[in-house]
Amino acid sequence: MLRVCVCVSGGGTNLQALMDAIDSGIVTNTQIVRVISNNKNAYALQRAENKGIDAFTISPKDYDNRDLFNAAFLQCVDEAKPDLIVLAGFLVVLPPQMIQKYEGHIINIHPALIPSFCGKGYYGLRVHEAALARGVKITGATVHYVDEGTDTGPILLQKAVEVLPDDTPQALQKRVMEQAEWVILPQAVNMIANGYGKDMRNR
Ligand code: GAR
Repeated sequence: MLRVCVCVSGGGTNLQALMDAIDSGIVTNTQIVRVISNNKNAYALQRAENKGIDAFTISPKDYDNRDLFNAAFLQCVDEAKPDLIVLAGFLVVLPPQMIQKYEGHIINIHPALIPSFCGKGYYGLRVHEAALARGVKITGATVHYVDEGTDTGPILLQKAVEVLPDDTPQALQKRVMEQAEWVILPQAVNMIANGYGKDMRNR
Protein backbone atom coordinates (compact mmCIF):
# COMPACT_ATOMS: atom_id res chain seq x y z
CA MET A 1 0.00 0.00 0.00
CA LEU A 2 1.32 3.41 -0.98
CA ARG A 3 0.92 5.72 2.03
CA VAL A 4 -0.05 9.16 0.74
CA CYS A 5 0.01 12.47 2.59
CA VAL A 6 -2.00 15.16 0.75
CA CYS A 7 -1.24 18.86 1.31
CA VAL A 8 -4.02 21.34 0.53
CA SER A 9 -4.91 25.02 0.88
CA GLY A 10 -8.44 25.43 -0.43
CA GLY A 11 -11.48 23.69 -1.81
CA GLY A 12 -9.88 20.29 -2.12
CA THR A 13 -11.52 19.14 -5.34
CA ASN A 14 -8.31 17.38 -6.37
CA LEU A 15 -8.21 15.65 -2.98
CA GLN A 16 -11.84 14.62 -3.58
CA ALA A 17 -10.99 13.28 -7.03
CA LEU A 18 -8.20 11.19 -5.53
CA MET A 19 -10.40 9.88 -2.70
CA ASP A 20 -13.16 9.01 -5.19
CA ALA A 21 -10.72 7.26 -7.52
CA ILE A 22 -9.44 5.15 -4.62
CA ASP A 23 -13.01 4.28 -3.59
CA SER A 24 -13.98 3.28 -7.10
CA GLY A 25 -10.85 1.20 -7.69
CA ILE A 26 -9.42 3.43 -10.43
CA VAL A 27 -6.47 3.97 -8.09
CA THR A 28 -5.19 0.82 -6.40
CA ASN A 29 -2.64 -0.03 -3.68
CA THR A 30 -3.12 3.44 -2.20
CA GLN A 31 -4.17 4.80 1.17
CA ILE A 32 -4.44 8.50 2.06
CA VAL A 33 -3.05 8.52 5.58
CA ARG A 34 -3.08 12.25 6.32
CA VAL A 35 -4.27 15.58 4.95
CA ILE A 36 -2.43 18.77 5.93
CA SER A 37 -3.70 22.28 5.27
CA ASN A 38 -2.02 25.61 5.86
CA ASN A 39 -5.48 27.17 6.09
CA LYS A 40 -7.85 26.18 8.86
CA ASN A 41 -10.87 27.25 6.79
CA ALA A 42 -10.00 25.08 3.78
CA TYR A 43 -13.02 23.01 2.74
CA ALA A 44 -10.51 20.28 1.88
CA LEU A 45 -10.23 19.59 5.64
CA GLN A 46 -13.95 18.86 5.78
CA ARG A 47 -13.65 16.54 2.80
CA ALA A 48 -10.91 14.58 4.62
CA GLU A 49 -12.91 14.41 7.84
CA ASN A 50 -15.96 13.18 5.92
CA LYS A 51 -13.84 10.22 4.85
CA GLY A 52 -12.38 9.64 8.30
CA ILE A 53 -8.90 10.72 7.21
CA ASP A 54 -6.68 12.45 9.78
CA ALA A 55 -6.62 16.16 8.94
CA PHE A 56 -4.34 18.80 10.41
CA THR A 57 -3.85 22.55 10.04
CA ILE A 58 -0.28 23.84 10.19
CA SER A 59 -0.32 27.53 9.36
CA PRO A 60 2.68 29.85 9.06
CA LYS A 61 0.51 32.44 10.86
CA ASP A 62 0.66 30.38 14.04
CA TYR A 63 4.47 30.40 14.24
CA ASP A 64 6.86 33.21 15.16
CA ASN A 65 9.09 32.56 12.19
CA ARG A 66 9.43 30.44 9.07
CA ASP A 67 11.93 28.02 10.61
CA LEU A 68 9.49 27.10 13.36
CA PHE A 69 6.69 26.62 10.82
CA ASN A 70 8.93 24.53 8.60
CA ALA A 71 9.91 22.29 11.52
CA ALA A 72 6.29 21.78 12.60
CA PHE A 73 5.16 21.09 9.05
CA LEU A 74 7.96 18.60 8.43
CA GLN A 75 7.18 16.85 11.71
CA CYS A 76 3.50 16.55 10.76
CA VAL A 77 4.49 15.03 7.42
CA ASP A 78 7.06 12.68 9.00
CA GLU A 79 4.52 11.38 11.51
CA ALA A 80 2.38 10.13 8.64
CA LYS A 81 5.30 8.01 7.35
CA PRO A 82 4.33 8.76 3.75
CA ASP A 83 5.66 7.01 0.67
CA LEU A 84 4.30 9.88 -1.42
CA ILE A 85 3.41 13.51 -0.70
CA VAL A 86 0.79 14.98 -3.03
CA LEU A 87 0.52 18.76 -3.33
CA ALA A 88 -3.12 19.22 -4.34
CA GLY A 89 -3.59 22.96 -4.57
CA PHE A 90 -1.04 23.62 -1.82
CA LEU A 91 0.01 27.25 -1.96
CA VAL A 92 2.89 27.29 0.53
CA VAL A 93 6.58 27.05 -0.42
CA LEU A 94 7.87 23.72 0.91
CA PRO A 95 10.63 23.68 3.53
CA PRO A 96 13.96 22.97 1.76
CA GLN A 97 14.65 20.17 4.29
CA MET A 98 11.44 18.50 3.21
CA ILE A 99 12.32 18.63 -0.49
CA GLN A 100 15.72 17.09 0.26
CA LYS A 101 14.33 14.40 2.53
CA TYR A 102 11.49 13.36 0.21
CA GLU A 103 13.07 13.99 -3.18
CA GLY A 104 11.37 11.80 -5.78
CA HIS A 105 8.43 11.29 -3.41
CA ILE A 106 6.61 14.61 -3.84
CA ILE A 107 4.28 15.42 -6.74
CA ASN A 108 2.33 18.58 -7.56
CA ILE A 109 -0.65 19.32 -9.80
CA HIS A 110 -0.35 22.55 -11.78
CA PRO A 111 -3.28 23.97 -13.78
CA ALA A 112 -1.40 24.64 -17.04
CA LEU A 113 0.83 22.87 -19.54
CA ILE A 114 4.29 23.45 -18.04
CA PRO A 115 6.46 25.29 -19.12
CA SER A 116 3.61 27.69 -19.95
CA PHE A 117 2.06 29.80 -17.20
CA CYS A 118 4.07 28.38 -14.34
CA GLY A 119 6.64 29.50 -11.80
CA LYS A 120 6.47 32.20 -9.17
CA GLY A 121 3.10 33.97 -8.97
CA TYR A 122 1.28 31.47 -11.17
CA TYR A 123 -1.29 29.70 -9.01
CA GLY A 124 -5.03 29.15 -8.96
CA LEU A 125 -7.11 31.54 -11.04
CA ARG A 126 -4.07 33.66 -11.99
CA VAL A 127 -2.86 30.86 -14.24
CA HIS A 128 -6.09 30.93 -16.23
CA GLU A 129 -6.17 34.74 -16.35
CA ALA A 130 -2.69 34.65 -17.86
CA ALA A 131 -3.63 31.96 -20.37
CA LEU A 132 -6.65 33.99 -21.54
CA ALA A 133 -4.61 37.22 -21.66
CA ARG A 134 -2.06 35.50 -23.92
CA GLY A 135 -4.81 34.12 -26.11
CA VAL A 136 -3.70 30.49 -26.13
CA LYS A 137 -6.13 28.08 -27.74
CA ILE A 138 -4.98 25.05 -25.75
CA THR A 139 -4.12 24.86 -22.07
CA GLY A 140 -4.31 21.96 -19.61
CA ALA A 141 -2.76 20.53 -16.49
CA THR A 142 0.54 18.96 -15.45
CA VAL A 143 1.56 16.55 -12.72
CA HIS A 144 5.26 16.86 -11.94
CA TYR A 145 7.75 15.83 -9.31
CA VAL A 146 8.75 18.63 -6.96
CA ASP A 147 12.31 19.89 -6.76
CA GLU A 148 13.84 23.07 -5.28
CA GLY A 149 12.45 25.27 -8.06
CA THR A 150 8.88 26.46 -8.63
CA ASP A 151 7.18 24.06 -11.07
CA THR A 152 10.57 22.93 -12.43
CA GLY A 153 10.67 19.22 -11.52
CA PRO A 154 10.39 16.27 -13.93
CA ILE A 155 7.00 16.00 -15.64
CA LEU A 156 4.96 12.83 -15.10
CA LEU A 157 1.71 13.50 -16.94
CA GLN A 158 0.04 16.27 -18.92
CA LYS A 159 -3.41 16.62 -20.43
CA ALA A 160 -4.53 19.30 -22.87
CA VAL A 161 -7.82 21.19 -22.66
CA GLU A 162 -9.38 23.46 -25.28
CA VAL A 163 -9.83 27.17 -24.57
CA LEU A 164 -13.22 28.38 -25.83
CA PRO A 165 -13.87 31.84 -27.33
CA ASP A 166 -16.05 33.19 -24.51
CA ASP A 167 -14.11 31.68 -21.62
CA THR A 168 -13.82 33.53 -18.34
CA PRO A 169 -10.96 32.57 -16.00
CA GLN A 170 -13.53 30.78 -13.81
CA ALA A 171 -15.02 28.83 -16.73
CA LEU A 172 -11.59 27.82 -17.95
CA GLN A 173 -10.48 26.82 -14.45
CA LYS A 174 -13.54 24.58 -14.12
CA ARG A 175 -12.93 22.90 -17.49
CA VAL A 176 -9.23 22.34 -16.74
CA MET A 177 -10.14 20.77 -13.41
CA GLU A 178 -12.88 18.53 -14.79
CA GLN A 179 -11.13 17.45 -17.98
CA ALA A 180 -7.52 17.35 -16.86
CA GLU A 181 -6.64 17.76 -13.16
CA TRP A 182 -9.16 15.32 -11.72
CA VAL A 183 -8.04 12.76 -14.32
CA ILE A 184 -4.25 12.98 -14.28
CA LEU A 185 -3.68 13.44 -10.55
CA PRO A 186 -5.33 10.11 -9.63
CA GLN A 187 -3.66 8.54 -12.69
CA ALA A 188 -0.23 9.69 -11.52
CA VAL A 189 -0.78 8.37 -8.00
CA ASN A 190 -1.94 5.04 -9.43
CA MET A 191 1.17 4.81 -11.60
CA ILE A 192 3.44 5.43 -8.62
CA ALA A 193 1.47 3.03 -6.40
CA ASN A 194 1.99 0.36 -8.99
CA GLY A 195 5.72 0.77 -9.50
CA TYR A 196 6.26 3.80 -11.73
CA GLY A 197 9.42 5.74 -11.02
CA LYS A 198 10.84 3.25 -8.53
CA ASP A 199 14.27 3.53 -10.10
CA MET A 200 14.38 7.33 -9.77
CA ARG A 201 13.52 7.27 -6.08
CA ASN A 202 16.16 6.64 -3.49
CA ARG A 203 14.23 5.97 -0.30
C1 GAR B 1 -6.10 23.54 -8.59
O1 GAR B 1 -6.54 24.11 -9.79
C2 GAR B 1 -4.61 23.29 -8.65
O2 GAR B 1 -4.16 22.89 -9.90
C3 GAR B 1 -4.09 24.66 -8.30
O3 GAR B 1 -4.92 25.10 -7.25
C4 GAR B 1 -6.22 24.55 -7.44
C5 GAR B 1 -6.68 23.90 -6.16
O4 GAR B 1 -8.01 23.45 -6.26
N1 GAR B 1 -2.70 24.61 -7.92
C6 GAR B 1 -1.83 25.57 -8.23
O5 GAR B 1 -2.14 26.57 -8.83
C7 GAR B 1 -0.40 25.30 -7.78
N2 GAR B 1 0.52 26.16 -8.47
P1 GAR B 1 -8.59 22.36 -5.26
O6 GAR B 1 -8.28 22.82 -3.85
O7 GAR B 1 -10.08 22.38 -5.52
O8 GAR B 1 -7.96 21.03 -5.58
